Amino acid sequence: MNKMTPRINSIDEYKIAYQKSVDNPEAFWSEIADTFTWRKKWDSVLQWDFKKPEVKWFVNGKLNITENVLDRHLATRASQTAIIWEGNKPDEGTRKLTYAELHEQVCRFANVLLSLGVEKGDRVCIYMPMIPELAIAVLATARICAVHSVVFAGFSSRALADRILDADAKIVITADGFFRGEKNVALKDIADEALKECGGVKNVVVYQRTLQNIQWNAERDLWWHELMQNANTENVATETDSEDPLFILYTSGSTGKPKGIMHTCGGYMVYAEYSFRNVFQYNEGDIYWCTADIGWVTGHSYIVYGPLLAGATTLMFEGIPTYPDAGRFWDVVDKHQVNIFYTAPTAIRSLESFGTEPVYKRNLSSLNVLGTVGEPINVEAWEWYHEHVGKKQCPIVDTWWQTETGGIMISPLAGIIETKPSYATLPLPGVQPCLLDENGKEITETVGEGRLCIKFPWPSMARSIWGDHERFRQTYFSTFENKYFTGDGCRRDADGYYRITGRVDDIIIVSGHNLGTAEIENSIDEHEEVCETAVVGYPHAIKGFAVYAYVQLYSHVTKQPDVLRKEITELVSKTIGAIAKPDKIQFVNGLPKTRSGKIMRRILRKIAEGDTSNLGDTSTLLDPSVVDDIKAGALH
Ligand code: WT7
Repeated sequence: MNKMTPRINSIDEYKIAYQKSVDNPEAFWSEIADTFTWRKKWDSVLQWDFKKPEVKWFVNGKLNITENVLDRHLATRASQTAIIWEGNKPDEGTRKLTYAELHEQVCRFANVLLSLGVEKGDRVCIYMPMIPELAIAVLATARICAVHSVVFAGFSSRALADRILDADAKIVITADGFFRGEKNVALKDIADEALKECGGVKNVVVYQRTLQNIQWNAERDLWWHELMQNANTENVATETDSEDPLFILYTSGSTGKPKGIMHTCGGYMVYAEYSFRNVFQYNEGDIYWCTADIGWVTGHSYIVYGPLLAGATTLMFEGIPTYPDAGRFWDVVDKHQVNIFYTAPTAIRSLESFGTEPVYKRNLSSLNVLGTVGEPINVEAWEWYHEHVGKKQCPIVDTWWQTETGGIMISPLAGIIETKPSYATLPLPGVQPCLLDENGKEITETVGEGRLCIKFPWPSMARSIWGDHERFRQTYFSTFENKYFTGDGCRRDADGYYRITGRVDDIIIVSGHNLGTAEIENSIDEHEEVCETAVVGYPHAIKGFAVYAYVQLYSHVTKQPDVLRKEITELVSKTIGAIAKPDKIQFVNGLPKTRSGKIMRRILRKIAEGDTSNLGDTSTLLDPSVVDDIKAGALH
């Protein structure tokens, strides 16, 4: 058996590990990093300066992450299942790849990428559905030390084009189409549309998933299966430096342009494995299922890298929780005897609305640990999950983290840290959170509420925004001196437990997806009849938050409001993706602006919430009467 990172087994061990990680972070992390395969060990553990900002972990260490994901497991687990794949349709059957098979596929595809001229440091854009080939493409890219940029397959052609252009990707990997519930998505068509704008892309590799008809560009397009047939099964991984980029993953920003969050190889690897094993208390042989999409960071760290680094069996699911019925998750759990199940609060709330019958029709006795991620989980959903899914036997880990943090930061360790519904509880060893008040002063009392920051580097933190280091500094390191600012509000109770209260910036979390208000506003403003838009989030029973758009039209508009609503909704779907569609669109005569021209979103948020009793001080508004108009026309 390989050496594995140490696993904490009791609350006392947690306290000791935590203390050590604060007192002597370098000793703490080097001991953990030592359990991995390095081509060359690091010269020093950590160099950092949050002012620049610059963070380097395992400085001058040499490695390849896929040797740790795959090669080092071959001696002991070649025939163990690495990936279980469950398709959208229940009757499609299951695919299983052992570690040996996954290794071979990754080597083959790494050779394909090399043969297409992809070099160390080049960006590879992966726009694929949830099939094993997505994981294979990710790992093959990492194996040759190119940089993967996975774009969620639900994104529109415009969003894809923006991401390809921003990363200057040399190659795109996609599929002809895919299935999602009753829908068949023509993925290649969407990619073709995006590629009209992306002249820098040399080749498009297409995996045949649905066999549907597609357009073919003979100079550019290549079939996955044809390339793979001829590819050599052996590939020696390319050596990377600890701080070479591993991937870029786009997340919404408060300005319209998405941010290409950049992660590097060494620290990310160490933290992904350590956090996976500890938070979920993974035991050898456990079947682990995270329902996220690999298009989000949750899928990167906790479908692909974390579990495979730990030598676990990870389940990938192509479908949705409600197809063919609301018991599908539970069917899959029973079918594969899943032990650890990790999902999003929005999925739980959506299943809750179907009642408990679909849950009790299934057995679910294989489950030991349940997890949630993506947004605050409300007490009711937590209780439902605990009682009906976990039968009060499974600890729930409410894991708080971000695309930028690379791994889980604040969370119970399953069965070890006592849980409290709606609390993410305590930081993982190596994570030093703090709460800051409005004036940027750290709240030193145990009990308090403020902005959540992290005051010391951790190995998997983002290193930059692709191509815009100044924006990285500005966004995360300029609000509070010498601290990483998360953008979240947070409360700490007498036990020192953390409870995330939600975003304090212009990001809305809809069904666990991070959306920037500016991005949606820009999209709506593109409509020729629209003069100006303000978008806010409002609480929604299933999605957590939903999008409410206040739209000011030009005065000459003659179209019916419902026609306009439909057009605007389609526009948002087309430019960003269906996830960003507004639930409510209110047409207004004016937006509440201050004398300096800033929209007072606070007021719009209150109106969207249906709470107009106390809108606070409106005296700085240029024209306070617009507020009465908006109140009168509010949609509830
Ligand atoms: C934002 C990050 C981390 C993977 C998925 C989202 C919110 C995330 C929790 C949680 C309360 C949470 C925060 C955070 N969030 N997990 N357990 N409790 N809020 O990644 O798209 O980068 O979004 O999601 O607001 O800042 P992301």
